[in-house]
Amino acid sequence: HFSTGIKLSNKNVIIKNVTVIGGGIMGGGIAQVAAQTGHNVTLVDVSEDVLKNSKSKIETSLARVVKKLFGDNKEKGELFQKETMGRLNYRTSLVDSVNEADLVVEAVVENIDIKHKVFTQLDSVAPEHTIFASNTSSFLIKDMAKVTKRLDRFGGLHFFNPVTVMKLVEVIKMPETSQETHEALIKFGTTMGKTAVEAKDKDGFIVNRLLIPYLMDSVRMLERGDATARDIDTAMKLGSGHPMGPIELVDYIGLDTCKFALDGWHQKEPNNPTYRPIAMLDKLVSEGKLGVKTGAGFYEYKKK
Ligand code: NAI
Repeated sequence: HFSTGIKLSNKNVIIKNVTVIGGGIMGGGIAQVAAQTGHNVTLVDVSEDVLKNSKSKIETSLARVVKKLFGDNKEKGELFQKETMGRLNYRTSLVDSVNEADLVVEAVVENIDIKHKVFTQLDSVAPEHTIFASNTSSFLIKDMAKVTKRLDRFGGLHFFNPVTVMKLVEVIKMPETSQETHEALIKFGTTMGKTAVEAKDKDGFIVNRLLIPYLMDSVRMLERGDATARDIDTAMKLGSGHPMGPIELVDYIGLDTCKFALDGWHQKEPNNPTYRPIAMLDKLVSEGKLGVKTGAGFYEYKKK
């Protein structure tokens, strides 16, 4: 286990009931791991159909986790699976999903207007003590918190994909986030089995602020013709010990997602060369070549 130098006081906010808004890639994963680690979880999405899909993905993923954790011990594995599924509830109405919530984790699509709507509504129905957190990758936490009247009970919880596997959570503290709230979020993250790091509410927090410029620089290297995609990936895997090369990582994350982050930062800092648009990336995105999820990006993939 990695240590992070975070020191906690003994303030005790207990987070037991968690509502996750958005049952997509991240929300489903957060809900699953929260339920695996003993929390009562309510997962909210826009329709029964979407929720059915989230539930089936969670079931498949949980089966894999059970196999890994319990191996041949079928009885214990089945019990764990049953108890975890029993802690998960599914709702289409945001209003009846937060009555009992100690914490709401927002993981809806990366669209600021939708996030504003969600938080405005949540703020009017959630109990006083409920802490709000966003899993956003590219917005500042303060840009969402500002639509609520609970800045002291608002922070960021930035998980990584896939949530069941990735060991990190970035816990983001705004100047207004109370120490009590911040510590409750760190404790929640560590209870979920993650290592928590503290980050200020700055673009990209820690990981993406360092990762996106590196990935984009590798696309620029490819665009200049200085090396092939394969050689860039091989070089960083064998020369830097990275598990994935940067070009294949862009394909995995999604070219559109990377472009979205780059363009957002470019708008804020138009003169910063690190965030300059990249013609090669823009072209692939405009052709719908978004990476693994569309069957092609910088590389070709067999459609599943
Ligand atoms: P996704 O597209 O897989 O899931 C988003 C879900 O939100 C969908 O199921 C959608 O139906 C639902 N939704 C939309 N509007 C809603 C509403 N008003 N109420 C309830 N649910 C609503 O997106 P993904 O990838 O899970 O991203 C979610 C958030 O997590 C974004 O803020 C993203 O920036 C962040 N994030 C994504 C990572 C990734 O690798 N995909 C990594 C870390 C953070």
